[in-house]
Amino acid sequence: MNLRNGTTDSDNMTPQSQRVLECQNVSRDFKVGKKLFNKALDLKAVQNVSMNVNRGEVLAVVGESGCGKTTLTKMMLGLLPVTSGEILFEEEPISGIDIRSIAKKVQPVFQDPYSSLNPRKTLEAIISLPMKVHGIGTAEERRGRVLEIMRLVELPPRFLHSYPNQLSGGQRQRVAIARALIINPSILICDEPTSALDVSVQAHILNLLIDLRQELNLTYVLVSHDLAVVELLADKVAVMYLGRLIEYGPGQQIFNSPRHPYTKLLLESVLTPEPGKGLPEIALGKEFPNPLNPPSGCAFHPRCTEATEQCKITRPVLTVENGQSVECHLFSD
Ligand SMILES: Nc1ncnc2c1ncn2[C@@H]1O[C@H](COP(=O)(O)OP(=O)(O)OP(=O)(O)O)[C@@H](O)[C@H]1O
Ligand SMILES: [Mg+2]
Repeated sequence: MNLRNGTTDSDNMTPQSQRVLECQNVSRDFKVGKKLFNKALDLKAVQNVSMNVNRGEVLAVVGESGCGKTTLTKMMLGLLPVTSGEILFEEEPISGIDIRSIAKKVQPVFQDPYSSLNPRKTLEAIISLPMKVHGIGTAEERRGRVLEIMRLVELPPRFLHSYPNQLSGGQRQRVAIARALIINPSILICDEPTSALDVSVQAHILNLLIDLRQELNLTYVLVSHDLAVVELLADKVAVMYLGRLIEYGPGQQIFNSPRHPYTKLLLESVLTPEPGKGLPEIALGKEFPNPLNPPSGCAFHPRCTEATEQCKITRPVLTVENGQSVECHLFSD
């Protein structure tokens, strides 16, 4: 196995697609709430979202709690079916790929390293599990690879036979990252990988993700509340609001010249004195709207200081300029 370019020897025979993951008009509804005349209500958790990640890129997905980030990443992992639209992995619809094959190539790192690691297994068993599941290597080869990957995520080899409860939160998240990397996946889907950790530890894990990216030329989808992290890591940024993609484009452009009034407010939170404290509720004013009864027109209009009558009535369409898309009447023709 080749750690540097993230391929197995047999993979070297086939050319690798540049486009690793793509969402095409992806939507996901949930049936929820009290049944009204025997009809459950539709919660539109993700609506018509299109985005893509090329090899070696980091795509960050940002937005307030409840805007649909986790729902989107679960669909990317093949753990949740789409209601409509298509997710392509290396240009093939994932709906046609069996879940085992997806799991070999698309690996998750979840938010909470306490609940995502089996407390009854040693680190060796936890980290080597994906190799075992996919029938890769002998027991001896697996142990060698576990030690190699532990070195990479800076976990001392003496932890090989330790259990998760003997580790700190940051060390546990290193274990989760090691487990995700052990079979050289094409892409890591990290959903808030640092937000369950102490602020002092968050920077270590973040630095690890940055170093690993350089060392292994990794491709990530990164969901994060921490916009300072996003600015550091992301090549592309997707801003979501109430299930919709409201701004999307190159990270530098979004950070230097955000267009959507919501993105502008979000970015102001980078400058708040307490990093890791979430998004600026005061700046955003009114509460997050009820996703079961979203506002008419542009869903952001009740909180938007620039909203006009038109914003209350019609939903804006996504317009693209210089590779930066925005769904806002201020920018529609
Ligand atoms: N299994 C489910 N059944 C019903 N509704 C759901 C389900 N999962 C998510 N939702 C709803 O879908 C919307 C999007 O949720 P999601 O967890 O994707 O948001 P999120 O952006 O990840 O939020 P957070 O930042 O808090 O993690 C929310 O309104 C949530 O309540
Ligand atoms: Mg979430």
